[in-house]
Amino acid sequence: MRTIYPLNDGWGFTEQYSPALLTTAGLEGLTPVRLPHTVKILPYNHFSQMDYQMLSGYARVLHAPEDWQGKYVALTFFGAAHRATVYLNGQQMADHNTGYTAFTVDLSDKLRWGQDNLLTVALDSRDSLDTPPFGKVVDYMTFGGIYREVELEVADQRRIADVFVQADMDGALTCEFSVQHAGGLTLEAAVLDEDGTVLAQAAAPAQTGTISMQVPHVRPWRVDDPALYRLRVRLLERGAAVDETLVRFGFRRVEFRADGFYLNGEKIKLRGLDRHQSYPYLGYAAPARAQKRDADILKYELGCNAVRTSHYPQSHHFIDRCDEIGLLVFTEFPGWQHIGGAAWKRQAVENVREMVLQYRNHPSIFLWGVRINESPDDDAFYAATNQAAHALDPTRPTSGVRCIKYSHLLEDVYAYNEFIHTGDNQGCEPKRAVTSDMSKGYFISEHNGHMYPTKPFDDEPHRLSQALRHARVLNDMMAQEDIGGSFGWCMFDYNTTRDFGSGDRICYHGVMDMFRNPKLAAAVYASQSDSRPVLTVSSTMDIGEHPGGAVGEIAVFTNADAVRLYRNDELVGTFPPSAQYPAMLHPPVLLEDTVGQLMERHEGFSREVSESVKTVLRGISKHGQWGLPQEILDQEARLQREQGISHDEIIRLYNTYMASWGGHSVSWRFEAVRDGAVVRACTLAPAETVHLEADCDSLALTDGPTWDMASIRIRAVGEQGNVLPYCTRAVCLEVQGAIELIGPKAVPLCGGMTGCYVRTTGQSGDGALIISADGAEPLTLCFSVTKA
Ligand code: GAL
Repeated sequence: MRTIYPLNDGWGFTEQYSPALLTTAGLEGLTPVRLPHTVKILPYNHFSQMDYQMLSGYARVLHAPEDWQGKYVALTFFGAAHRATVYLNGQQMADHNTGYTAFTVDLSDKLRWGQDNLLTVALDSRDSLDTPPFGKVVDYMTFGGIYREVELEVADQRRIADVFVQADMDGALTCEFSVQHAGGLTLEAAVLDEDGTVLAQAAAPAQTGTISMQVPHVRPWRVDDPALYRLRVRLLERGAAVDETLVRFGFRRVEFRADGFYLNGEKIKLRGLDRHQSYPYLGYAAPARAQKRDADILKYELGCNAVRTSHYPQSHHFIDRCDEIGLLVFTEFPGWQHIGGAAWKRQAVENVREMVLQYRNHPSIFLWGVRINESPDDDAFYAATNQAAHALDPTRPTSGVRCIKYSHLLEDVYAYNEFIHTGDNQGCEPKRAVTSDMSKGYFISEHNGHMYPTKPFDDEPHRLSQALRHARVLNDMMAQEDIGGSFGWCMFDYNTTRDFGSGDRICYHGVMDMFRNPKLAAAVYASQSDSRPVLTVSSTMDIGEHPGGAVGEIAVFTNADAVRLYRNDELVGTFPPSAQYPAMLHPPVLLEDTVGQLMERHEGFSREVSESVKTVLRGISKHGQWGLPQEILDQEARLQREQGISHDEIIRLYNTYMASWGGHSVSWRFEAVRDGAVVRACTLAPAETVHLEADCDSLALTDGPTWDMASIRIRAVGEQGNVLPYCTRAVCLEVQGAIELIGPKAVPLCGGMTGCYVRTTGQSGDGALIISADGAEPLTLCFSVTKA
């Protein structure tokens, strides 16, 4: 039977690999590190991609007890960026290229039994490597480190080497397996439900490589009911198990048809975002909790039903969570625009194989990306990548992300980065304007992104424009039956190389910032789901943020039926979702009229006069009083002639009802109304005080099998609980007890928001994080750390 030992602790690290690390004397002077590990803790922004490019070294002692002799003993590295050469007792055992898939090193024949052995890894994180994604510029930092876990497996030499579960929605299951040294043995496969009850089982001679069975009454894996099962596979010798493994899977059928994506025969519009796997300070090296949190954010905060792991396979912890919560995953092999030479291409095809072999039991994965993101056509190369994926997985279609139209479609599905939208035109083109094969499926793999970079501290109109651009693409995509869905670029801002970004090594393309704090555009996605009431107003309603003091267009992102607006507690009106986004599940409410019936009530105007005055006031708000277009001037003249309303009076009305210029500030209340009831409300008025608020994914941390990490989002809010987007105070972070801070002890608020991470230290006990800022009550988060 197999035993898995985590091997994440006890490593020593140096930024400069040298052959001295091939002997135990080399261990001296190494810095003790724990995995996941980044070769460099980096600043939030303004640093160089050269900072993490190095040939670094890792080493540790591995004691091999006598009783392991004769067994299968192997190490699996789940992610080492980007070329790892592994040595045992000075002898090279493996050389793995490309940092986004796992690799296994069989040590069985080379260990010294009953003795300490020396494991050494030379890790190259330089972008000069002849391996994907390198060879040209890349729009994301590629970091470095043994940034995922390492495991040691000790098993009988007679073992199950691999299991692939193909389970259809109708309960038909095929288990393809490979075994080693299993002559004369039997393989038994049993389907277990959540409670461990055996639902079906079958056995076959271990040489056959396949077992099929029909499982009765299965619950298919669905987005809103992601039912999971386990396949227990045992290698039996006269009824006794010599090896056993459990594989989690789901029964489901994925398909692209000409008119879109189908899960279990049911059409689903993919509504997703692209995700990088990076984090501030840590690069790629974040442990399981942080990986899972991103999946939860996508599903529960951003209301997505899908994610694209741009531009490489990502942590199994992330995908495991997608399996558990019903988040569909489009995963692709590593690469960015560039196709290299023959060796590079061979490696890329190998990367497809590793991706498919390592990820094919995840029910959430519905599509393999087997084209280098945004690369040109290369038929021979892409015939090979498609062939590799199809040979290892007949159950899933292939695709590949293009930025070119009508390219050669060797995959099953055309995926296109649709950047046509510039703010006031169509959100996307029809399928027929892009794809070279109308009979195959089509979807949008990216939109927006670099078309409109947006910082959380940009002004309101800018943030609103980003949000409405995402809304426009979502709407126009939804309106077209034969577009399978879309993935917005992207989930969160990311550190990028000097060739991209805003000069500070950040691409501000996210609907969230790097700490996963939401920008306004996040609310566009959140409001498309019905799982919780959403009400996000695009404006703080502060007049000084806008030219001429008029707040102008206000959008409310909500999943309610309507929004009620009150001005100083007086009802202005009830506003329905905008007719400009008819295909969205929940279009935003666009508020152009913040005056409503107030002038009828307070000035005694008739409805008709009030509407006519409002037209003039809106004209002033848009064009200023001296630049009014002729039709507005005519309207104003008519009001003067017929109602005796002078220009001065118009300006008074403007200042009273539109801009509040020269009057007291106004308090605005927004209520989201669903089925006649207020399901959510917020009040917007200038804040008098600053309060700190923080949310943390977990106050209970577990040290083991790796270090654990809590992610904390911090924001400054006023007394009404609204984020203060221009609050720039410094936030001080202090930790006590059994936790450590990752990153600096003081961080600025950006857009009123920031964040931090704390990690476990190997000790159990209590810990505290104290968050403070001048003039605000400090917050203390109390953690408890247990050891697994
Ligand atoms: C795409 C690319 C992404 C990112 C994005 C920015 O061309 O695939 O990686 O750079 O543009 O919008």
